[in-house]
Amino acid sequence: MKQLLILLASLCAGHAAPQDFSEKVFTFPVESGTASVKVIANAEQPLTALTMCMRFFSSLTREQSLFSLAVPSEPNAFLLTMPSAGMYRLHINGPALDISGLSYFTQEWNSVCWTWDSSDGLTTLWVNGNRSTRHILGAKVSLSGVPSIILGQEQDTYGGGFDKTQSFVGDITDMHLWNSSISLCEIRFFMDGSTFTPGNLINWRNLQYSTDGLVYVEQSDFDKLSCF
Ligand SMILES: *[C@@H]1O[C@H](CO)[C@@H](O)[C@H](O)[C@H]1NC(C)=O
Ligand SMILES: *[C@@H]1O[C@H](CO)[C@@H](O)[C@H](O)[C@H]1NC(C)=O
Repeated sequence: MKQLLILLASLCAGHAAPQDFSEKVFTFPVESGTASVKVIANAEQPLTALTMCMRFFSSLTREQSLFSLAVPSEPNAFLLTMPSAGMYRLHINGPALDISGLSYFTQEWNSVCWTWDSSDGLTTLWVNGNRSTRHILGAKVSLSGVPSIILGQEQDTYGGGFDKTQSFVGDITDMHLWNSSISLCEIRFFMDGSTFTPGNLINWRNLQYSTDGLVYVEQSDFDKLSCF
């Protein structure tokens, strides 16, 4: 009964019912300034700590957007892009930090986790099992307002302002978001493809989303492919 009420409430709010995406990917097959997935986060309070994990499969060597979270006051509120092959750029509430020396495999799955805690501003990026040094970005920052979270495009304005030269082309799976800096063991589990505690703000196994433009839902081939 409770589930039915939640389902009805979510239908009335205009959102599709959550779906289990655990063996699915979003595929962005062509470069465009429109193809995007809007993901709904279960975020009620201002955000003062975050962890985002995802896997992506791409062959781009130009700039590409990996994860774009905007708030009404700042489009680059929590943004991960790759400005050139192998360079990762983090933005928190505007300011940016570039991280090089981590891996980027084209036409293979890359597993990424990014942690941030505003109490000390410590932020760390993990890629394919290795991590960056710890940096300071977004100390004392609090992100308020309903977050607008987009995969496939980079938001230059809240919910829009897309530029196809920054778009993502390829596959994205296993994207989770937590309102805390998750433990090293949870990150290890995610990187290894073993069982981890799913995101409490976005859970890929219980995903509320809508798509726009040329985006397809396909079967995942990140280590879970079972053939009979
Ligand atoms: C990452 O870590 C592995 C060992 O776990 C190492 O072989 C590799 O050189 C490291 N660096 C990069 C950029 O992947
Ligand atoms: C994190 O999110 C959960 C669920 O939305 C909420 O209950 C909790 O209070 C949040 N914690 C913080 C520190 O905002």
